[in-house]
Amino acid sequence: MPEHESTPDDTRADLEEEQADAREPDEDGAASGMSRRSFIKGVGGTAVATAAMSGATETDAAEASDGPDGVRVANITLSINGEAHAVSRVEPRTTLLDVLRNRLEYTGAKPVCERASCGACSVLLDGKPVYACSILAMDAEGHEIVTVEGLLDGDSLHPVQEAFVEEDALMCGFCTPGFVVSVAALVAENDDPTLDEVKKALSGNLCRCGTYTRVFAAAQTAARRVREGT
Ligand code: FES
Ligand code: FES
Repeated sequence: MPEHESTPDDTRADLEEEQADAREPDEDGAASGMSRRSFIKGVGGTAVATAAMSGATETDAAEASDGPDGVRVANITLSINGEAHAVSRVEPRTTLLDVLRNRLEYTGAKPVCERASCGACSVLLDGKPVYACSILAMDAEGHEIVTVEGLLDGDSLHPVQEAFVEEDALMCGFCTPGFVVSVAALVAENDDPTLDEVKKALSGNLCRCGTYTRVFAAAQTAARRVREGT
């Protein structure tokens, strides 16, 4: 089971709750316009990573407007790597990964499976690793998002990035940004993880090249660097 902020059970429970909500009329006795349930409907049954979303600022339906083809769109502001980014005309179905890569050019998070299985799209949401492919952009409003680009300190690599270089912990590199983000979350909480703790923390990330041994070594090297301040 991935160590990211969701489980299939969470997802199922969330969808059931949304479906229950959808059956309830609002104060005017009518179905409300823009809501999380419409967003969930827009991305089908794979939406996950909602456990960290309890404090989400939902885009007000009053701010939404009709876009092309009658699709409801809204303007949102996302806090990414410490900067506020205004994103206009976001559709309910649009994922955080889509906004990051195609509207804001943060291309570190990679689209691979796009169904919450591989971890290549991992970003930090309020410090926790999540799958950006499975979070709706509107639901990310009001949260602090950090991408792999945001781990840099000016031109200096983050200790985790240094550790991946030191341990030569990649082959094709496609999974690497996701692993780096997940390791950064781990060492921020635990600067002396056991190998089992490393494996558990990285269980939501897959590497098709099979570079796991070096990735695990990089995680422990990163923890040492953080511990020693190097
Ligand atoms: S692309 Fe998001 S988990 Fe695979
Ligand atoms: S290094 Fe190629 S997928 Fe991980």
